[in-house]
Amino acid sequence: MSEHFNINNPSRTRVGLIGAGSIARGAHLPGFLANSDVQVVAVADPVEGRAAELANEASIELAFTDFREMLNREDIDAVSIATPPVAHAETTIAALESGKHVFCEKPMAMNSAEAIAMEQAALKANRILAIDFQTRFEWDTQEARRLVTTGVLGAPHFARASYLRRAGVPTWGTFTSKTANGGGALIDIGVHALDRALYVLGHPTPTSVWGATGQALGQRGEVTNRWGAWNTETYDVDDYAFAAIRFSDEMILLLECSWILRMENPSIQQLEISAADSGLALNPLRLFHDRNDRHSTETFEAPDHQRPSHELSIADFVKAVRHNTEPTVPAAHGVLITKIVDAIYKSMTERLEVQLPEG
Ligand SMILES: NC(=O)c1ccc[n+]([C@@H]2O[C@H](COP(=O)([O-])OP(=O)(O)OC[C@H]3O[C@@H](n4cnc5c(N)ncnc54)[C@H](O)[C@@H]3O)[C@@H](O)[C@H]2O)c1
Repeated sequence: MSEHFNINNPSRTRVGLIGAGSIARGAHLPGFLANSDVQVVAVADPVEGRAAELANEASIELAFTDFREMLNREDIDAVSIATPPVAHAETTIAALESGKHVFCEKPMAMNSAEAIAMEQAALKANRILAIDFQTRFEWDTQEARRLVTTGVLGAPHFARASYLRRAGVPTWGTFTSKTANGGGALIDIGVHALDRALYVLGHPTPTSVWGATGQALGQRGEVTNRWGAWNTETYDVDDYAFAAIRFSDEMILLLECSWILRMENPSIQQLEISAADSGLALNPLRLFHDRNDRHSTETFEAPDHQRPSHELSIADFVKAVRHNTEPTVPAAHGVLITKIVDAIYKSMTERLEVQLPEG
């Protein structure tokens, strides 16, 4: 591995950004800039002038319209991928083959075949590939995982993961195009709910999936949307998805997510777990107990200062690169999410419960 792995080498990790859109500007660039072990040296985006504009604003040395030209630079150690999902596999595999470490946005890929190819490319190149599931780094998610995996609640038997928006269709970029994003609410925000649930539960083994996705309002419009109107004529993705996932220990996870649903609450991001001895819910973290013939709720204090979760997710990737350790969100976890997402879409198409192959 390169000299940049050496903890005793004070040189900073040189990072290039692939994609200069919304999340690159809003989270990746600030996250890398906040890290004193990193120098952001390059940015690439195919839209003429977009990379140059960001480079100019943020005093980044190099700007490219072709990400492959950026990858030819031997003085770049790592890249972050913030393109639409359709370009995640192509850019990630090319970056790994050119010897760069990769921090890739969620969803890892359009489907599990692409995600597996990415994971294999990382193994072959002996480089780090981490996925940006930043909700894992929120304090209550971390604490919930500790409580569940150390057995404080007893064995879980039921969980419900929700990421529901009443009217939150992302109207910038390519989110409402199946060919660019692979799907809608499920692959965009359902994956966050799913990833957080699996992480808190300590990654039990899923065995089968029943799923349903739907499109009731996306092509109609007529919704007062958080990010304004969208093109209803080109909209061809799911508005919402629901799934029941079985695990090898008989636990059941219900997943529910939506961009648009006519419901009272504008936004629900929740994880609830029922376990043998206690229950748990997030936002804020609570435990539910049944003791001495009565229900009680235990609450937890949030830490005074919390760094933004994207900043922590990026710091975790940088640490993995510099110390040659496993990132908190390794490629294998991203692959598992894509397998479950594939199974939910398949279950809907074929109207059956889909078995997940072992491994
Ligand atoms: N982790 C999160 O919470 C979170 C939040 C928002 C978006 N995202 C993810 O980030 C990714 C980008 O979303 P966004 O909102 O920034 O979209 P966006 O449309 O604002 O930006 C995408 C950018 O990628 C560029 N691009 C396209 N193909 C490229 C290529 N081959 N090489 C380099 N650049 C390319 C586009 O020109 C555009 O500038 C998506 O995967 C999305 O799901 C994650």
